[in-house]
Amino acid sequence: MVEDKLSFIKEVKRRRTFAIISHPDAGKTTLTEKFLLYGGAIRSAGSVKSRRSAKYAVSDWMEIEKQRGISVTSSVLQFEYDDFCINILDTPGHQDFSEDTYRTLMAADSAVMVIDCSKGVEDQTKKLFQVCKMRGIPIFTFINKMDRMGKDPFDLMEDIENVLGIRSCPVNWPIGSGKNFKGVYNRHENQIEVFNDGNHGQSIAETITGDLSDEKFTGLLGETLHEQLKSDIELLDIAGDNFSLEEVLNGNLTPVFFGSALTNFGVEPFLKSFLDITTPPKARASNLGEINPESTNFSGFIFKIQANMNPAHRDRIAFLRICSGKFDKGMVVNHVQKGKKVKLAQPQQFVATDRVIVDSAYPGDIIGIHDPGIFNIGDTLCQDDSKLEYADIPQFAPEHFARISTTNSLKRKQFLKGITQLSEEGAIQVYKRPNIGMEELIIGVVGVLQFEVLEYRLKNEYGVEVSKQLLPYRHIRWIANEGIDTSDLSLTMDSMLVVNKNEQPVLLFQNEWSIRHILERNEGIELKEHS
Ligand code: G4P
Repeated sequence: MVEDKLSFIKEVKRRRTFAIISHPDAGKTTLTEKFLLYGGAIRSAGSVKSRRSAKYAVSDWMEIEKQRGISVTSSVLQFEYDDFCINILDTPGHQDFSEDTYRTLMAADSAVMVIDCSKGVEDQTKKLFQVCKMRGIPIFTFINKMDRMGKDPFDLMEDIENVLGIRSCPVNWPIGSGKNFKGVYNRHENQIEVFNDGNHGQSIAETITGDLSDEKFTGLLGETLHEQLKSDIELLDIAGDNFSLEEVLNGNLTPVFFGSALTNFGVEPFLKSFLDITTPPKARASNLGEINPESTNFSGFIFKIQANMNPAHRDRIAFLRICSGKFDKGMVVNHVQKGKKVKLAQPQQFVATDRVIVDSAYPGDIIGIHDPGIFNIGDTLCQDDSKLEYADIPQFAPEHFARISTTNSLKRKQFLKGITQLSEEGAIQVYKRPNIGMEELIIGVVGVLQFEVLEYRLKNEYGVEVSKQLLPYRHIRWIANEGIDTSDLSLTMDSMLVVNKNEQPVLLFQNEWSIRHILERNEGIELKEHS
């Protein structure tokens, strides 16, 4: 028994569960692939990313992804490295990402933020970063593509601090750039890691350790670069933020690494450092207080539901993040929200290119469980009969809206079934005009691609063709005044009143200005940014 408990704790301690966030094309897929290569989970480069060669990517499940060459769904990958058991939560890289992307971050314990050195902080990174910040999870920055000409590293640091509002502390510092890029100086180890473009980084880079003032560095780098490096490091030492483990773990300071995923340069030192600094799964907030992962009572929450992952089986999978206790195949657990017992018979895990049936899993792991239509996002499952509920997963405000209706009224039932299903998965949010039937709905999404996914899935999975009219609204506000008579509201041409599935009134706006206008015209109205 004691031995069981000890081996359980050992398993928890070696778990690291993180998400990789970036703007499309910054190199997230390439970096993930390099991690998998180091862990021996895949054998050759190109197994994950072969989008343009029409092969399927590991993280691609849906046909639409294959056609368009983008990741529509977020996926989960598990692999081993250096005695760590790593769970990577992938987030779609295309700009048309979805609410799913945000929700995936709820299941992560830390995040790796990939930035293209020639672009700096880009739009999508900003949005994803905000969710990580809200959760206070540690964020590690990998500034990628250092083999190419990029922005000045001090400007990149300033960008991170000004645009994202997080303090940063470079762990290594680039020497030269573009064609003249010589490598990085590791501030912790006092060593220069030499960049060798020729060997495509076949893992180990040459390192030269010594005091920065050492003459041997002049020989290696040339006088100009050596002087530049000395003055850069002096400036960082005086004016930069000091490394503080506590600040990193609280999400207030991001350690920054420079490297190149494509040539492997700096990837393994980054991974090692990341694994070293990050912690195993921590206690999670619930209605019964903080739940320790080492508690023997198995528990977890559902953060994502994906229907019809395999059209041949028309299956629906709920993704469960394990928060405490050990999971064993066939376990009977308590579905807290429904007050019912469920047997987790065919749990799946996602290992590199495969879905496999798991016998056991631990806190930090993600398992896919068969869902006969009983689970909702945010549901808690636990072993004992307590009324344990993990903190709610927030609903993220949609930014795009369209009017959707069926073209064939005989298919109305299937239309509603598909819409309900997709809204339960959290892919879309459904509204309607007050006093108008369900034939015409207003659909809200976080990224516009979701409209295409919606049309595609309604057609392929439910046999329903729809007509779609994009609407110009970009902002949503929930009316907080209880029992308000909305027919008294004075609206403008650039706003629209709709109701959600609970008949709560919601306003859609074209721009910030129209929100202010409505507030001025309707004294006493209270608008909330979240439902
Ligand atoms: P993403 O998942 O964040 O969208 O980015 P992805 O890894 O797909 O990389 C986007 C492009 O950037 C790819 O080139 C990739 O090869 C390149 N790239 C990634 N890391 C580096 C790096 O460290 N240095 C350089 N120079 N390029 C890098 P592509 O031409 O779009 O695709 P492909 O034809 O190479 O497959």
